Amino acid sequence: MIPNEIVNDILKSADILTVISSYLNVIKKGNNYYALCPFHNDKDPSLQISVSKQIYKCFSCGEGGNVFNFVAKYENISYVQAIVKVASIIGYESPYLTKSVTKVDPELSKSWDILKQAKDFYCYVITTEGGKDGLDYLKSRHIDEEMIKYFSLGFAPENGSILINTLRNKGFSLDDIDKCGLLVRTSNLFLDRFKGRVTFPLFDEYGNVVGFSARRIKDSDEAKFINSSASKVFNKSSVLYNYQNAIKEARKEKYVYVVEGFMDVISFYRAGIKSCVALMGTAFTNEHAKMLKRLNVEVRMSLDGDDAGQHGIVQAMKILEDNHISYKIVNYQNDLRDPDDIFNQDGKDLFLKRFTTLQEKNDFLLSYFVKKHDLTSLDGKKKFIEDLLENKKNFSSKIEREIFLNEVSKLTSLNLTVLEESFKNNVDEKVFFNPKKRIKQYSKVVRSERKLIYYMLQSYEAVEFIKESNVFFIHDIYMTIANYIFEFKESNPDIELNQLINSISMIDSREEIVQTLISIAEENNLESPFSKESANEYIKNLEDCLKKQRIESQLEEAKKNSNDLEQAKLIDSMLHNLK
Ligand code: UTP
Ligand code: MN
Repeated sequence: MIPNEIVNDILKSADILTVISSYLNVIKKGNNYYALCPFHNDKDPSLQISVSKQIYKCFSCGEGGNVFNFVAKYENISYVQAIVKVASIIGYESPYLTKSVTKVDPELSKSWDILKQAKDFYCYVITTEGGKDGLDYLKSRHIDEEMIKYFSLGFAPENGSILINTLRNKGFSLDDIDKCGLLVRTSNLFLDRFKGRVTFPLFDEYGNVVGFSARRIKDSDEAKFINSSASKVFNKSSVLYNYQNAIKEARKEKYVYVVEGFMDVISFYRAGIKSCVALMGTAFTNEHAKMLKRLNVEVRMSLDGDDAGQHGIVQAMKILEDNHISYKIVNYQNDLRDPDDIFNQDGKDLFLKRFTTLQEKNDFLLSYFVKKHDLTSLDGKKKFIEDLLENKKNFSSKIEREIFLNEVSKLTSLNLTVLEESFKNNVDEKVFFNPKKRIKQYSKVVRSERKLIYYMLQSYEAVEFIKESNVFFIHDIYMTIANYIFEFKESNPDIELNQLINSISMIDSREEIVQTLISIAEENNLESPFSKESANEYIKNLEDCLKKQRIESQLEEAKKNSNDLEQAKLIDSMLHNLK
């Protein structure tokens, strides 16, 4: 556990606007900040961030909380892990934090440990006689020692038992080693899966080694690269090669390149571009998009100029757009060479020129499909339009649509009105800056309960007053919240809403309570402050309701009673009670 003082200290130091801005594109409107809500399929920015209260709330889906709730939900991690994550975002350091990360899952941290030891082993081997073939190979690819260190490249010895023996000597069992996806089984023998290959360790964003990819060093029929087998720690579709370095570089450069392979990342590095990550092939996944989105910079898609690469970009565009990521596309100009060849053959200057010539998404899309189809044939025109309809799913404005369709009309000599009709459903009519607050209609009782809690969030005086009144909340959720506030404000009279939320999330991560609290804090925003008179009115509403409930249940009792006299007596006493 992280001590409470540390948690509170992080909460006080972490500005929610700064943290959310590191994930989402935040826009200022008036005194408020808005972003597209990542927790539902949001079209208008309906996530509101309150700097004064240090909370966020989505007016569309209702999701809300403090900075830790946001990060936990966004990253799909536990509340405690989110505290650690927020600390790392704001650069808060404390020895308690590193301890609690590794505590998250003992099996995971053991695998990370084994994989790190394996990486260190391969890195060592490449500096020795046994790794000379690997080193020579890398040199032949213009990878020098500085780069070998930067990317932690290594070599797996031809003898596939050495890795296993080394790890077992460090106390790991064969079973533990196998669980990390490092081994292959040949007849009865386990061997290093990567033996005789140059190793590329794969990291997660925290710098843990999660797996390897290893390249053959001679031409042969064997696969060019072999990857770790899928395991609890390694999932190919959620790895972006070099992401752990790109996080820092992207902050400086305000862009990140996405390329196909390891060697491409290394070529970019040679050219001085360090903010670059690779897919392992061309498949771009939603997980990749989420990771890129977190960098909060312009994404520059740079898959190869061949058909697989360019088609990969078209596919990736849909995912990038679904995730509202801003991106551009490197203009390959029909060049079929990969970045490695371009650097080696053209040199650094031409390389940089090529990769900083960027296309906007619509230009890319049009030129891609123009190349693909024969626009002089009727059939070609038809297929061209069909492909555009399939791949141009939304426009951010009418102007964008107009410009796009005008161009399509010129290319195909199709009537603009006809095109507009066909692309009608593809228009995404955004009404920006207009978060529609959902006004909920509550019953008189619920309104009273919510008002009283709202007052208590505003002032300590209200807490004391309402506590003194011994008011009985009708609904469990409000009773629970009221009790939390009574208890909490007793020891911390000046506590802020975000800290109250923190204490609730810490105790039992009661999502419902947090959400209710947030919605109360937001809905009464502009209304009157606490006064004893109005509080008394709400208290009276609750008392009336309670009385009514009592009478109703007594009536039920009376009905069950067969004796007329008894019934009469009960009803009499009830009427007496009512007075
Ligand atoms: P490439 O064939 O373009 O490899 O595959 P590369 O990185 O340019 O390497 P060199 O220049 O041929 O040495 C792109 C990426 O696809 C994945 C790897 O991640 C590679 O970097 N890949 C490729 C595999 O996983 N397995 C393979 O057999 C081939
Ligand atoms: Mn290559």
